[in-house]
Amino acid sequence: MKDLKDKTAFITGAASGIGLATAQALAAKGARLILADIEPARVEAAAADLRAQGADAIGLALNVAEEGEWARAGEAAAAFGEVRILFSNAGVGGGSGKFETYDPEVWRWAYAVNVHAHLYACRTFLGGMKALDAPCHLALTSSMVAIVPPPISVAYISSKFATLGIAMALRNELADTQVGVSVLCPGMAATNIVATTARLRPGASEQGAAAQTAQNMSGVLASGMSPARIGERVVHAIEAGEFYIFTHPEWKRLAEPQIAEMMAAFGASADPDYVGDDIDGLIAANGARQLNVSVTR
Ligand SMILES: NC(=O)c1ccc[n+]([C@@H]2O[C@H](COP(=O)([O-])OP(=O)(O)OC[C@H]3O[C@@H](n4cnc5c(N)ncnc54)[C@H](O)[C@@H]3O)[C@@H](O)[C@H]2O)c1
Repeated sequence: MKDLKDKTAFITGAASGIGLATAQALAAKGARLILADIEPARVEAAAADLRAQGADAIGLALNVAEEGEWARAGEAAAAFGEVRILFSNAGVGGGSGKFETYDPEVWRWAYAVNVHAHLYACRTFLGGMKALDAPCHLALTSSMVAIVPPPISVAYISSKFATLGIAMALRNELADTQVGVSVLCPGMAATNIVATTARLRPGASEQGAAAQTAQNMSGVLASGMSPARIGERVVHAIEAGEFYIFTHPEWKRLAEPQIAEMMAAFGASADPDYVGDDIDGLIAANGARQLNVSVTR
């Protein structure tokens, strides 16, 4: 999507961190902005800030995890402008602790915010974006943990794998449209995510070792990358049509052996008499043209 000037962008999790930084970077390109966030006062303040800098921006209270709230968000967006850029970014940390002790209510919440919301966002805007038949862009925020999972929350890591999977599948599904797709996979960023998670998580607050881990993470992330630089990269990826947005190259040395292990695991067929999967037939049966656009484009 080469020209962002006067194009309307809808950004979730826009009151803070990477969402806010991306809104600012889009504003610098002349885009019009709908900032959506669960925190009404903070998102309105963020929008007012952008307006004071000359941008055309509105703030919108939206809990992305509540499917029922999206119709109103869609109406408010339509009244502001034709959404051409959708950045489904709102996310929360999964919390710490061992998987077998994980609170199912917190698990459902983390998945609702980090994963299910992508569907609600796309049900609200993607059909309209496709129908425009003009350059549009969808960006989803995953994480470097979906490329190289560190020993942190299983809920968080697996929800970010799901986001990566959604982006990879959508990229194929949208290959014949004018909607570009990107997946943002940052390493550590100096944002409010630990405090946001503690404030919004359902049920009792974390105790003991889990609370200590959250506090440690807060300290580690404080020295992470500036969200401003990440927001600028997101905008560059939208303009350049890049699928993977990898902002932290220091993780590459950990990704390489992991991918090599995966490749090495492709050994002999489990059934030496089997002719092998008809992959072209599978693609054709699903009405698609190709499996991986990066290979053929
Ligand atoms: N900070 C990092 O190191 C890091 C690394 C990789 C990926 N990410 C991802 O980046 C995204 C943005 O997080 P951030 O680091 O900027 O954190 P942040 O807490 O600074 O910003 C997240 C924003 O999302 C909003 N939010 C949370 N739940 C919401 C909901 N249900 N509905 C609407 N808004 C909601 C919060 O109010 C907050 O304003 C998340 O998806 C996160 O998983 C962050």
